[in-house]
Amino acid sequence: MPNIVIFDTTLRDGEQSPGASMTLEEKVRIAKALERMRVDVIEAGFAVASPGDFESVKAVAHAVQDSRICSLARARAEDIDAAAGALRSAQASRIHTFIATSPIHMQYKLRLPPEQVLEHAVKAIRYARNLVDDVEFSCEDAGRSEPDFLCRIIEAAITAGARTINIPDTVGYAIPGQFGDLMATLLQRIPNADKAIFSVHCHNDLGLAVANSLAAVLAGARQVECTINGLGERAGNAALEEVVMALATRKDLFGLETRIQTTEIVPTSRLVSSITGFPVQPNKAIVGANAFAHESGIHQDGVLKHRETYEIMRAQDVGWNTNRMVLGKHSGRAAFRARLEQLGIALDSDGMLNDLFARFKELADKKHDIYDEDLHALLSSVSTTEIPKIYALIALEVLSKTGQAPEANLSLSVHGQQKQVRATGSGPVDAAFRAIEALANSGASLELYSVNAITSGTDSQGEVQVRLNDAGRIVNGQGADTDILVASVKAYLDALNLLSSPLQRAHPQMSGDGI
Ligand code: KIV
Ligand code: ZN
Repeated sequence: MPNIVIFDTTLRDGEQSPGASMTLEEKVRIAKALERMRVDVIEAGFAVASPGDFESVKAVAHAVQDSRICSLARARAEDIDAAAGALRSAQASRIHTFIATSPIHMQYKLRLPPEQVLEHAVKAIRYARNLVDDVEFSCEDAGRSEPDFLCRIIEAAITAGARTINIPDTVGYAIPGQFGDLMATLLQRIPNADKAIFSVHCHNDLGLAVANSLAAVLAGARQVECTINGLGERAGNAALEEVVMALATRKDLFGLETRIQTTEIVPTSRLVSSITGFPVQPNKAIVGANAFAHESGIHQDGVLKHRETYEIMRAQDVGWNTNRMVLGKHSGRAAFRARLEQLGIALDSDGMLNDLFARFKELADKKHDIYDEDLHALLSSVSTTEIPKIYALIALEVLSKTGQAPEANLSLSVHGQQKQVRATGSGPVDAAFRAIEALANSGASLELYSVNAITSGTDSQGEVQVRLNDAGRIVNGQGADTDILVASVKAYLDALNLLSSPLQRAHPQMSGDGI
């Protein structure tokens, strides 16, 4: 059965979700999870956007062996040079260059006539092909581009050396039947179409990203660009788990195979959700908590008699119920390190291992069974060199009594100096956050506060997400602890530390003029 290439862009387009930015170390962890899942191509970032993005692409390229690593680049030499530089140590690399092809983008954003857009594309592809063998070209806003112009520019792109041609529905405007027809038209009309793989990249503004991607596949596309949990710019991208499971479940219709190890889907979804702070809605297909839950008596009865009456997939095939009890109170350093290695987590130094092991022991004193999810939460809590730790929790005491305003007594380290403060609030979390702000005076507004249990049971760690907005700069802080008040304070401090970080990211669609 022919293969279909799964191209994951969680680390690039996914990161363009407001508030979903990730640290270098988090990106490497996600990349390792994608590699375990056997994703064919991982788009690791947009190397030219910032030194942080460059280093992240470089680190992913270094860490991953079994997936091809890709960097995005506008159709200009400096972008392509940065991409090639960051990808140097990759086992297999790809440069993905793009330029907008729709009348509205060419006229108002690029301010270039179509002929010049075509020239820029050809020049960029040739330039990139001198640096790497594998070049992908995207016609940004292809969904609103004129088919005649698409045919011309794509033919020239293939002649210039592009091996993959991506047709993005950048603004999520397409409708499945029409988008499938566009793909079929391109494949029929472009004389050298057989020299490249046609790809699809759909956004979800009308909730049709997966449907449009699958329509394009039915019309002949052989690469799908997607993200875990459908993360991405605005309403997101096509969700990898939905695309992969549609292809697997309806093999009868598609006649195509992916390499994806589907049992890694749920663990990877959880990892991405915990790192980005974007919870998965319970009724989300495949990875939502209710995706395989049967509530109605008639359905339960049917499933008990014959599972296929109401289930088209098996929960265990996508990785439900696979959270393994890995470690406990008596596990030693060697077992701990071995489990981290199995999860693809390499710690830079013995110091980091010691730090993490000490936190693991602390947690194991409070919580009997430590699962992979707990280890990931611990990892998120150890210091990375990228983010300055200006604020750190020393001690927290919260007094909460029916009929009285809760009071928080907080001791923080601020720039290495111990500070003490007391505040009251409408609830214990409010009191704790007011106490932090009494010291930090950040002026940022709290946009999201959410608590989730990482695993099941009342001794589970609570994982808290705090989203702060400081004059348009949005950051997501995370904290985990068996005490959700402590987790809340850690998450708030994490967000404040991120706000203090000089790392700024420019995103391709937002930065400059697009070429
Ligand atoms: O949506 C889009 O057009 C993109 C391109 C850069 C591929 O993300
Ligand atoms: Zn996109």
